[in-house]
Amino acid sequence: MGDLLQQASLASEFPSLAQRVNGEPLAYLDNAATTHMPQAVLDAMREFETTSRANIHRGVHTLSQRATDAFERARGDLKRFVGAGPGHELVFTSGTTDALNLVANGLSDAGAGRPYLQPGDEIIVSGLEHHANLVPWQQAARRTGATVRILRPDAQGRLHADDLAPLLTPRTMVFAVTAGANATGERPPYEELLALAAEAGALTVLDAAQAMSHDTPQLLALACDFMAFSGHKMYGPMGTGVLAGRRKALERLTPLRFGGDMVIWVSEQEASFAELPARLEGGTPNVAGAVGLAAAAAFIEATGRGAIDAHVRSLRAHAVAGLSALDGVTVLAPHAEAAALVSFVAAGAHPHDIGTLLDERGIAVRTGHHCAQPLLDHLGLGPTTRASFALYNTHDEVERLVAAVARALEVLR
Ligand code: ALA
Repeated sequence: MGDLLQQASLASEFPSLAQRVNGEPLAYLDNAATTHMPQAVLDAMREFETTSRANIHRGVHTLSQRATDAFERARGDLKRFVGAGPGHELVFTSGTTDALNLVANGLSDAGAGRPYLQPGDEIIVSGLEHHANLVPWQQAARRTGATVRILRPDAQGRLHADDLAPLLTPRTMVFAVTAGANATGERPPYEELLALAAEAGALTVLDAAQAMSHDTPQLLALACDFMAFSGHKMYGPMGTGVLAGRRKALERLTPLRFGGDMVIWVSEQEASFAELPARLEGGTPNVAGAVGLAAAAAFIEATGRGAIDAHVRSLRAHAVAGLSALDGVTVLAPHAEAAALVSFVAAGAHPHDIGTLLDERGIAVRTGHHCAQPLLDHLGLGPTTRASFALYNTHDEVERLVAAVARALEVLR
């Protein structure tokens, strides 16, 4: 696969990458924020829009049937992709943030009676999380009188199962952790952490946004009640995502979006709600998006998850070696070999300035706090520059990145 990608044969399947930016060939290294879409995904969405566009679950006419079939087929395909078993269900959302809000709000909303979370309960959140897997829990705690406790990483940004055990108490109701930290690349031992928390009786939440495209967690292999991910970080469309998990856990969630498609009957004063997954999917969904997301999963499978993972890891290792050799550059979590991204700080140079100078050379990276301010505070760091890799990136692009960072540091210092 590495050789294949060096020949840019896979990159040619991504039409949006074949462009020049500021006069240079685009080196798109901001994949942890959003990946690009291959022709296969664009084609699947276009095919749906041009042959089957209609609302789902609502019509007896042919297009509505086709749309419903396409939507439910996408659900089934994605369930297989994440290794779901008969006890699992999958709900479409607009992304990871939406999915995690659905869980945190659904466990704390009092609208439908006594919420799962009660005063004095404890929610443990790892210290590696981006804001989408922390702020909804802060709000859930505020709403219910529960408290948020943090499983802190060590000084290198690693999480340890030994540190979780003492935090678990009979009041621990939720444990939430990422499958890959977006700010550092750390890949925590989430399998072990989830198992420990589940054993202690907590509901477990996995934010798989950063892992899905190369290190796809498999539900049946995990003690995981809820798993969230986004389409746009796995070669799929923006505004799509998934909340998958154990049906029994998903049934605990109070529906938060009321309206069409999620009810059984409605009277003037009352309504009763449908079973999963419709129960949590009120309103008209993004059907073309679901179709595109399933096509993205199929693209990943056809390319080979193992091959993609090996490729992005080798790009990351190359970048870590090159950047660490530059004077005054510190790479975060250099040990995190399973990562698809590299995040670094450089003495005497602000990340925004580095990012601007890289952009002048056609290289797209992300700079800032990466929506993970508490983690960077804990590590004693400010904003960073982050390069993140996908299957279409090449070792030549890594060389361009390292050379452009070296040049930027000369200019800025
Ligand atoms: N969470 C996304 C990132 O890391 C947006 O860039």
